Amino acid sequence: MNAVPSIALNDGNSIPQLGFGVFQIEPKDTAEAVSEALELGYRHVDTAEMYGNEKEVGEAIRASGLDRGDVFVTSKLSNGAHEPGDAREAFGATLSDLGFEYVDLFLIHWPLPTRYGGDFVSTWKTLEEFHSDGRVRSIGVSNFQVEHLERLAAETETVPAVNQIEVHPYLTNDAVRSYGQEHGIATEAWSPIAQGAVLDDPTITEIAEKTGKTPAQVVLRWHIQRSDIVFPKSVTPSRMKENFELFDFELGSEDMDAISALDRGEEGRTGPHPDTFDYVPN
Ligand SMILES: NC(=O)c1ccc[n+]([C@@H]2O[C@H](COP(=O)([O-])OP(=O)(O)OC[C@H]3O[C@@H](n4cnc5c(N)ncnc54)[C@H](OP(=O)(O)O)[C@@H]3O)[C@@H](O)[C@H]2O)c1
Repeated sequence: MNAVPSIALNDGNSIPQLGFGVFQIEPKDTAEAVSEALELGYRHVDTAEMYGNEKEVGEAIRASGLDRGDVFVTSKLSNGAHEPGDAREAFGATLSDLGFEYVDLFLIHWPLPTRYGGDFVSTWKTLEEFHSDGRVRSIGVSNFQVEHLERLAAETETVPAVNQIEVHPYLTNDAVRSYGQEHGIATEAWSPIAQGAVLDDPTITEIAEKTGKTPAQVVLRWHIQRSDIVFPKSVTPSRMKENFELFDFELGSEDMDAISALDRGEEGRTGPHPDTFDYVPN
C-alpha cells in the first residue's frame, strides 16, 4: 500500500517521490525524528547545510542499519559559500558532517541574484565538479526562477536534475514548474502543506471529509498526482505516519482542479522571493 513511486531524473538516477524534510528541526531532535521516519518507511531525507542538522541526519541513517544505498539523501550549499573555493570547502564539510562518501543530490539552495555579482554560474560549475568526481550522484538547484534556469542553460553543460521551489495550493508556481517539465527538470515542492496554512481551507477540508482522508493527506496526494516530489516535515510521529500514507487513494480530476484553483499567485507565497532573497549567514 505504501510503495513510494520513484521519479526518473534527467541523469539516469531516480528519486523516491515522497521523502522527509528536516528544516526547522532542532539538531537535538533531528536524529530521533529521522530514525522514526526511517522506521515508518521513509527512504529519502532532505536537509541543507543551513539547517544545521546534517550531522544528526547522518547519525540516524547510520544507526538505522539500512544500507547507505537504500536512503536517498539531499543536501544544499550554504548561501555563504557560492564562491567556488568556498563551495568546495563547504561541500567537503557537508560530506564529513553527514559521515558519507557521497550524497544523492546536492543543490544550490538559493540563486542570490543580488549577491556575488549575480554569478550563480560559477557556483553551478563547481557543483558539476562534485558530480564528475562521483561525490554527488545528481546535482540540482533550489528557488531558481525561469530566467535563472535559462541562464544556466545558455552558459553551462549540465541541466539541473531538479529545481526545489515553494509549491502548495496557495502558490501553485506553474510557470516555473512548466519550464521544468519542458526541459527535463523535476520539480520538488517545498512547504508542500504551506507549513499547515492550507489545512483549514474549506475546499481542502470538504475533499478530506468526502474521501475519508486528512487535509494533509489530500494536499500531499494532490502534489503526488501533479508528479512533484514532496518531503513534508514533522516532528510528530502520528503526522509522519499520516503523511506517508498517500498511495491507497486517488483524487478525481474535479478535486484536483478545485485544489489547483486555490492558487493565490504571489499573494500565496509564504517564503522569501527568490529574486530578492539575499540572506547570507555570518
Ligand atoms: N529549498 C528551500 O528553500 C526550502 C524552504 C523550505 C522548506 N524546504 C524543505 O521542504 C521541507 C518541507 O517544508 P516545511 O518544513 O517548510 O513545511 P511543511 O512540510 O509544509 O509543513 C511543516 C509544518 O506542518 C506541520 N505538519 C506536518 N504534517 C502535518 C499534518 N499531517 N497535519 C498537520 N500539521 C502537519 C508540522 O508540524 P510538526 O512538526 O509540529 O508536527 C510543521 O509545523 C522542509 O523540511 C525542507 O526540507 C526547502
